[in-house]
Amino acid sequence: MKLVGRKVKRIDAMEKALGRSTYTHDFELPGMLYGAVVYPGVAHGVLKSIDTSKAKKVPGVAAVATYKDVPNNELGIVTKDMHVLVPVGGKVRFEADPVALVAAETKEAAEEAAALVKFEIEELPPVLTIDRALKNDIVVNGERNDAFHRKIRRGDVEKALEESHLVIDMEFETGYQEHAYLETQGAVAWWDGNTMTIWGSMQCPYYVQNDVAEVLRLPLSKVRVIQLETGGGFGGKEDVPSYIAVKAALLSYLTMKPVKLVYKREWDFRETSKRHPSKSRYRVGFSKDGKVLALHATVYLDMGAYSTLTPIVMYRSLTHAGSAYSIDNVHVDVYGVYTNKVPTGAFRGFGSPQVLFAMESIMDEAAKRLGIDPLEIRMKNALQPGKSTITGHVLKSSVGAKQTLMAVKKASNYEKLKKEVEEFNKKSVFLKRGLGWSHVIYGVSLGSAGQHLDASAAQVHVKADGSVTVMIGGTEMGQGAKTVMAMIACEVLGCELEKVTVLQPDTSVLQDSGPTVASRTTVFSGNAVKIAAQKIRDRIVEFLKKEGYKSIEIGKGIWVLDGEHVPFGAVIRKANDANVKLVETGWYETPKLHFDQETGTGEAYITYTFSTQLSLVEVDILTGRVQVKEVWVCHDIGKVINPDGAIGQVQGGVVQGMGYALMEEIKHDEKGRMIIRNFDNYTVPLITDIPKINAMFVEEEFEEGPFGAKGLGEPSLMSSPPSIANAVSNALGVRFNRLPITPEEVLLKLS
Ligand code: MTE
Ligand code: MOS
Repeated sequence: MKLVGRKVKRIDAMEKALGRSTYTHDFELPGMLYGAVVYPGVAHGVLKSIDTSKAKKVPGVAAVATYKDVPNNELGIVTKDMHVLVPVGGKVRFEADPVALVAAETKEAAEEAAALVKFEIEELPPVLTIDRALKNDIVVNGERNDAFHRKIRRGDVEKALEESHLVIDMEFETGYQEHAYLETQGAVAWWDGNTMTIWGSMQCPYYVQNDVAEVLRLPLSKVRVIQLETGGGFGGKEDVPSYIAVKAALLSYLTMKPVKLVYKREWDFRETSKRHPSKSRYRVGFSKDGKVLALHATVYLDMGAYSTLTPIVMYRSLTHAGSAYSIDNVHVDVYGVYTNKVPTGAFRGFGSPQVLFAMESIMDEAAKRLGIDPLEIRMKNALQPGKSTITGHVLKSSVGAKQTLMAVKKASNYEKLKKEVEEFNKKSVFLKRGLGWSHVIYGVSLGSAGQHLDASAAQVHVKADGSVTVMIGGTEMGQGAKTVMAMIACEVLGCELEKVTVLQPDTSVLQDSGPTVASRTTVFSGNAVKIAAQKIRDRIVEFLKKEGYKSIEIGKGIWVLDGEHVPFGAVIRKANDANVKLVETGWYETPKLHFDQETGTGEAYITYTFSTQLSLVEVDILTGRVQVKEVWVCHDIGKVINPDGAIGQVQGGVVQGMGYALMEEIKHDEKGRMIIRNFDNYTVPLITDIPKINAMFVEEEFEEGPFGAKGLGEPSLMSSPPSIANAVSNALGVRFNRLPITPEEVLLKLS
């Protein structure tokens, strides 16, 4: 291949390095107003009254909106269980549940007015933990707190547990994780009396379009959403930008002026989504030689005050509850539980890191108790063609699971490394080293929980001079989608990468392409680009044949026509002058999956990525500090389209997963107010914490994927937390069943 699989320069690198990309913070329109949000500061209560009179008097204020101003106040991506603005008589369900909005000529005036909005709340006792919520004596939302349930029922679990040589019965807990994207949430809305246009930072322009249309009761044709450059999403900009955009849109609708609503970091911390905290109980049965015979798991996800994406996140917790192993007897329950805290939702891994931590910890614990090496127990249970996942999906091809285990073993020189660690620990009193494995699976695409959204569009347009624009329905948020799309277009068209511009998505151009989530962009948008580019290439070839050319070879920026080297631009000039159509759309839809939602069995996803990580950590037993020293990680992602981009994803994912495993924590006070609200006390990994990362790939091609590709965006994080946690447990000889493993947690365990 000419480009696919080769080293290229990221196509948006230069504009980003030079500060020329337009982010929402940079985007301005003449006469633009600024928005501010009013929070109740009370986690649970009934809103008795709102008084906006003082706020309206602040000079420069153009509008102060309350629930009365919202045409349709119901909101929510899966169930309509939230409001745009809390109505009087209705419930405030978390401390940053918006009660009013302000638009003013300056940010300062908007914030000053926001502080002058007065309201009365009759406080109710807040429900702050999963355990408290499960009592259901105080109901946060709807009819009961444990409002959502998903299950898998396969085989006879109780019998298999009875027949097991070893049963591991353990409980696990995991905490919040904040996305910590560099750019906070933000949108600019402009209602010109005819069309509502939204520009903003987002992963899913079509979600924003749908929600703005519903809230303002406008037809979809009157709502146009254009994604601006997005400074990181990590799942945090899946549904949340809809909630930001509807606020900006409402203010613009009321004032008929453009309104910019860019969140301050503290608003972003308090109001917007995080990773779900979880509690789970696992009972896993093993044969004497380490084969997993049965999996029984009950998992609770703390979804906060509103369900948002939880029902979909739960689907991934469910299907990933057994990690990457072939298990025949499976009984899994996942519950989504309301509490009076910030709503939780999508975060890289999407409900899987919580359960992977549990299952991978158990694999290590079983290996220890059975006297088997942790690598060997994983090899023994690993998936391969012909075996089935925990949902009973029999895998036919593209299963490089065992190869990833073997690649890490080899690259780390595992046997020697183990001995070195042993030697080190013999000599060292206060510093202890440990090695930890993880072996995880990732179902690429939305899968059977969201097949109606699993399709994507692309437009490829070759201009008269041979330069090319590509537009996809998916978004770039840092993960490198633009470069991958440009590479695919060029591979097919035979043009130069530098000649391609990937445009920002615009809902008025392309059909709803579903969300940019579930690591699906390479497969979905990539296929759509490939299809569109192929149509154009075929038409050009046909034209050249008509012109009398006998041999046509498609190169890299140069086509060879009857032995003559012709630059792509010249080929196109010829075609363009002969009125050949040079713009096309492509559409890719998922192969249909068969899944029984009642038993949770069947084909859960179109394909799977497999990942193995080995981490070497060093723990200081005096301070409790864990340092990750080196990581070896291998992913089977099918054909690697952009090797440098893929390595970048792995590095970022490992480090983000390390933050989740070791340091990141959100805390609330006893009244349910978030006490960690900014980066002054929310700890994320620093550059000095980054270990040496050895990234490798196995390329078991996926026949449906563009050039055989699968997906990597999320697995790059998922392998990291369980591997690091297992390494800490290995270093200290005690099992950690709670994340994050902060220094305090380490010292508590050792005391
Ligand atoms: N990488 C960067 N740099 N920034 C991001 O916001 N999001 C992650 C992952 N990698 C993200 C990222 C998440 S949550 C997903 S679902 C995938 O990228 C989405 O992109 P893909 O479909 O192209 O893999
Ligand atoms: Mo990613 S959590 O699927 O946006």
